[in-house]
Amino acid sequence: AASDPDLVERARAAKAALGDRLFVLGHHYQRDEVIQFADVTGDSFKLARDAAGRPDAEFIVFCGVHFMAESADILTAPSQQVVLPDLAAGCSMADMARLRQVEDAWDAMGDAGIQDSVVPVTYMNSSADIKAFCGRNGGVVCTSSNADVALDWAFAQKPAGEAKILFLPDQHLGRNTAVLQMGIGLDECVVWDPHLPSGGLTADELAHARMILWKGHCSVHGRFTEDVVDELRAKHPGINILVHPECPHEVVLKADLVGSTEFIIKTIEAAEPGTVWAIGTELNLVKRLADNHPDKTIVFLNRNVCYCSTMNRIDLPHLVWALENLVAGQVVNQITVDPETEADALVALQRMLDLPG
Ligand code: 13P
Ligand code: SF4
Repeated sequence: AASDPDLVERARAAKAALGDRLFVLGHHYQRDEVIQFADVTGDSFKLARDAAGRPDAEFIVFCGVHFMAESADILTAPSQQVVLPDLAAGCSMADMARLRQVEDAWDAMGDAGIQDSVVPVTYMNSSADIKAFCGRNGGVVCTSSNADVALDWAFAQKPAGEAKILFLPDQHLGRNTAVLQMGIGLDECVVWDPHLPSGGLTADELAHARMILWKGHCSVHGRFTEDVVDELRAKHPGINILVHPECPHEVVLKADLVGSTEFIIKTIEAAEPGTVWAIGTELNLVKRLADNHPDKTIVFLNRNVCYCSTMNRIDLPHLVWALENLVAGQVVNQITVDPETEADALVALQRMLDLPG
């Protein structure tokens, strides 16, 4: 749908008034009406780096979700202010790992006698206090574009063959990366259910596991299923199936290519005209790719409409409201991480930024 012309004009005017004092970041899952005002777009890794790359900007307006704005706050100078245009833009996956639950799991791993072998790795899609937990306990942050390198690093933190990874909070990214990229057996991956004592695992299961996967998932990517892959392959012989690694393992196994949102975009940009693609990721991005590449056939890997409802909370009215307040000298919806959490989370984020590649 076309954006409201009055709001478009107001967003333009506010951006012009703020000039270089303002830097607007937009995640690839944002609506078209918002993404048109982003100074940079990217996946969560690129946006974390980009946020840190504009030390002169007074205001960082993050068009994305809460954990991304928190990471931007951690990675920028104290004088820079990070704004999330709608505070309700959270992430249901990040909410699936609470600090208290993770600390309880850590203690239970101590009781089971394995804690010394465990290296915690958290997906970027987690709250700042979970990143801080990883920083304090010898762990690292990863994103969907560097999870394999982060796991390599984590396994190397303990004597050969000894390390176990506690992977938070997305079991799918953890499993897909471990099994498909690191050659770890599916039988070496176990799922820790925070609602059960000892994660619902026996001492024997824990002793043999190499990947302890937190029982979290993305509510958007969890909705892609194998049967749609089969249906599309039958309907369009030669179709390419391209999915995000937050999809369930069975779906990723049936796909041709898997990668982050940035990888998905680069793959479609490089694809030959006339090729046919089904994409398993959030719908705003898939629609934009279809609109921007009319020479290729691009379909959604789901029979239903699935947007990320929290990403979609950031709309043009919220963006205009945040920008016009900044013009008026009011910082609304500022995201601040407390200094102690920030210091520990920065350790884990910096370890990620220092990874090779
Ligand atoms: P990436 O942009 O890192 O691929 O992550 C997808 C996502 O779910 C962000 O919320
Ligand atoms: Fe969270 Fe999934 Fe939405 Fe990403 S797409 S913000 S992981 S709910």
